[in-house]
Amino acid sequence: MSIELIDIYKSFGPKEVLKGFTLTVPEGDTVSLVGFSGSGKSVALKHVVRLLSPDSGVVRVDDQDVAGLSRHELYELRRQVGFVFQFAALFDSMTIRENLSMGLIKQGTHTEAEIEQRINESLNMVELEGFEDRMPAELSGGQRKRAGLARAIAFRPKYLLYDEPTSGLDPVTTTVIDRLILKMKKELGVTSLVITHDMKSADRVSDRVAMLFEGRIIEEGTPDEIAKSENPIVRGFVDGEPELVEQGRLDQ
Ligand SMILES: Nc1ncnc2c1ncn2[C@@H]1O[C@H](COP(=O)(O)OP(=O)(O)OP(=O)(O)O)[C@@H](O)[C@H]1O
Ligand SMILES: [Mg+2]
Repeated sequence: MSIELIDIYKSFGPKEVLKGFTLTVPEGDTVSLVGFSGSGKSVALKHVVRLLSPDSGVVRVDDQDVAGLSRHELYELRRQVGFVFQFAALFDSMTIRENLSMGLIKQGTHTEAEIEQRINESLNMVELEGFEDRMPAELSGGQRKRAGLARAIAFRPKYLLYDEPTSGLDPVTTTVIDRLILKMKKELGVTSLVITHDMKSADRVSDRVAMLFEGRIIEEGTPDEIAKSENPIVRGFVDGEPELVEQGRLDQ
């Protein structure tokens, strides 16, 4: 039960964002997708649940070809895939409880008591117990990200997609979120794809790291292998050296 993106091409008008992008997340693993801002990480992630469709290429999740799913099947798939959005994407006019319960109520398969219990469990898991009645505006950035994660896990998904779960957070809060990602894997057994540009985070949470550059994965390996990579583009990215990246690009 893996996530597979195979030879994906995606353009917006004349702008080619993905050009032969291939990435697999094996069942139970956590894979981090790293790359420069604007390189197409979020675009790639959105293909997993058909928020975007490829111009060509195949997306396979849970052994299903995502392009071929009916509306109903797509809806079923999305219930299995928790999406933690880049900017938390909570509804500002709703309490945290309402934000978390909305999807479960819509699903129509749980009693009120079950939903309440699910919410409590999910908030406990991200250490936000007691925050049910707060409004999103009353939360810090880090708490909001955790609330976004709680909403994603309230469905008990098999897969979790995290879009920059730690961007804009201080190093300690980042570590807290990273530990949560590890906890989700350990306690819920989820298969996860994490977008980040924080190499330290990638190192902590991932089984494997893949780097996106100019539309495709230019290197993939364990965090250790990536840290030791001799590819100048990867080196430049890891060490924050634009000259190295530019040289690597010209040499390609
Ligand atoms: N719906 C869209 N319509 C048109 N262009 C888009 C759309 N979504 C993304 N893009 C473009 O695709 C490119 C990649 O965007 P994307 O959001 O995937 O970058 P990213 O790697 O996630 O960057 P960041 O690290 O800053 O979040 C950008 O040039 C962006 O402007
Ligand atoms: Mg993004």
